[in-house]
Amino acid sequence: DAVERGEYRHYMLKEIHEQPQALADTLEGRIAGGRVLTQILGVDAEDLLARTEAVHIVACGTSYHAGLVARYWIESLAGIPCTAEIASEYRYRNPVVRPGTLFVSISQSGETADTLAALKLARERGYLAQLAVCNVPESSIVRESSLVLMTRAGPEIGVASTKAFTTQLAALALFALAFARAKGLDEQRYLDGVRQLEQLPGLVAETLRLDAGIQDLAGDFADKQHALFLGRGTHWPVAMEGALKLKEISYIHAEAYAAGELKHGPLALVDAQMPVIAVAPNDTLIDKLLSNLEEVRTRGGVLYVFADHDIGSRVDDSRTLVMPACGEIAAPIVSTVPLQLLSYHVAVLRGTDVDQPRNLAKSVTVE
Ligand code: G6P
Repeated sequence: DAVERGEYRHYMLKEIHEQPQALADTLEGRIAGGRVLTQILGVDAEDLLARTEAVHIVACGTSYHAGLVARYWIESLAGIPCTAEIASEYRYRNPVVRPGTLFVSISQSGETADTLAALKLARERGYLAQLAVCNVPESSIVRESSLVLMTRAGPEIGVASTKAFTTQLAALALFALAFARAKGLDEQRYLDGVRQLEQLPGLVAETLRLDAGIQDLAGDFADKQHALFLGRGTHWPVAMEGALKLKEISYIHAEAYAAGELKHGPLALVDAQMPVIAVAPNDTLIDKLLSNLEEVRTRGGVLYVFADHDIGSRVDDSRTLVMPACGEIAAPIVSTVPLQLLSYHVAVLRGTDVDQPRNLAKSVTVE
């Protein structure tokens, strides 16, 4: 055990630091000449993508959050309707499937009971195909799917998913870009998206250098009961993933809200006892997010902001950490990393069992 963890105190920390390599492995051989190789989705992929008129994504837990990010990418880049939902809901709600819909399941283990049951249901519902985004090649979900896009995160031991999530996002970005190009995405935006993926391992490596700064902030959280995570667009599911990490391993109650919903409830909770964590990317919604943060501040809320390099100077707060400058594809992946480190350091300070949190399992194979 100690040998496998190497210099790291916990598997989770090791797996967080393995992300640059895991991302490079997931992208390896799938991009050439600045373009995504469509064959990565199978020999008939070109034809299949051309015929796809809608996408249904289904998953559980962290994998569901990856699906939520992909939904934004698919709709905004490919202009094709996409839904992302929790497998345990999908499987019991009698989903309506229009012709030309592609089913996508996302699962690290490939064995999650609800996701597998959702896939089995989907096979009877007239989908164009079933694509699995999965980390375990010999798993049930891979075997039952007609198309497979493997993540290459390697074994993930920590119950709280880290490198599996970011590699899922990289695989889904490959899919979204290839799909969007087939649907007529502007060439420049496409090439720019692919370039961001190529730069991803380096950007994540750079972000990991924030570790010491994040460890310093973690002390503020150790005695807190609640935390609120805010984001907009693709960074709303990133905020959800940040809140899930904190809940899972530090046992602090954490909620994520789309920042635009603040006035519809969570603002009532804001006080000095509930830290508010926000992810501030350099995107078209940044002005709106910054004004949401101002509302938190004027109500005495204590803000922690992870800001894109080009936004950092606009966030008027001492508890701001600056990440590398990122475009629309790289940003949600890069922004995930500081949130993983934050929950890790808070959990260590609280003395919880980081790799084996109470009541949780790595793979939920029974309903
Ligand atoms: C469990 C794990 C999570 C994981 C979820 C879905 O809850 O603790 O980390 O995200 O299952 O698992 P899957 O293997 O389908 O991605």
